[in-house]
Amino acid sequence: MNSKFIEYFKENFFKSENDLKIFLSSLDKHLKKTIRINTNKISPDILLERLKKYNYDLSPTFSKNVYYIERWENFDELEKRLGFTLEHLMWFFYIQELWASSSVFYLSDWKIDETNYLILDMASSPGWKTTQLEEFYPNSFIVANEFSRDRTAQLIANIERMWSENVWLTCYNWQFIWRLTETFDKILLDAPCSWEWIWFKAIESLKYWNLKNVKKIADLQEKLFESWLNALKVGWEMLYSTCTMNKIENEWVIENVLRKYPDSFEIITQKRFWPHIDNTWWFFVTRIKKLKSVDYKFSKKIEL
Ligand SMILES: C[S@@+](CC[C@H](N)C(=O)[O-])C[C@H]1O[C@@H](n2cnc3c(N)ncnc32)[C@H](O)[C@@H]1O
Repeated sequence: MNSKFIEYFKENFFKSENDLKIFLSSLDKHLKKTIRINTNKISPDILLERLKKYNYDLSPTFSKNVYYIERWENFDELEKRLGFTLEHLMWFFYIQELWASSSVFYLSDWKIDETNYLILDMASSPGWKTTQLEEFYPNSFIVANEFSRDRTAQLIANIERMWSENVWLTCYNWQFIWRLTETFDKILLDAPCSWEWIWFKAIESLKYWNLKNVKKIADLQEKLFESWLNALKVGWEMLYSTCTMNKIENEWVIENVLRKYPDSFEIITQKRFWPHIDNTWWFFVTRIKKLKSVDYKFSKKIEL
């Protein structure tokens, strides 16, 4: 275990040894898998009925169209693989962690909104939140921006598989988005982060965790946040999310931008998901409302 990581967590989040112990022991536990139903292709009732034949046990989560899924009998490994079911191959559902579906929930309050908005999904590949945005804002135009050209093939494939309409793909860096002053009605920034969540997949990856790397990524997040704030219309809302727990990439990014542009926005909701409390991987969401224009200085160089 990376001692610096443990120290940081203890100092920032856990007052007692016991609290830390509960948190650490939760990391070895099995977290329930969740699936999100693709309502563009099938209704939840029909899919739930179809999945019964594989002996999957489904129960609702707090998220609309997202279900916990477990096998109630022991089958061999191949049969256990959800990915091999016809329903998955048809993209009637996909496997998405509970936390990952929460960004769109917090932006929309789970209400389907038929108004026509212009929405920017600032860091969109592989597109799980883009396709979910399309579900919650069926009449909106969604700009799915992905800076990394290498990651756009996956984004396009997922948008097509999910039958998401009204999505326009762009490939810009934050310097370009910055120039789109007060253009969008809503923005989602699911920011690149230091990937602390990877601990749940490969604990050894945490040996690379250190504060220097965290601060470097926080600098980028701050730039993205600022460009995003500038691109949002006054009076409208945006959502910032990361799959890291540390405060440097979360609260501090928000506080630093607010210090730079005092009174420019207010926080509407903020939530941190914990594995030992919320039974999901860690995740952080903040919804804000823009209160006034930001006096932003453009850099001369644009990286496209
Ligand atoms: C957490 S992932 C987004 C996941 C996506 N929202 C989803 O739900 O499927 C963060 C994304 O930020 C992109 N990214 C990395 N550096 C960036 C930058 N400088 N500007 C904009 N996006 C960047 C990454 O390529 C990655 O696709």
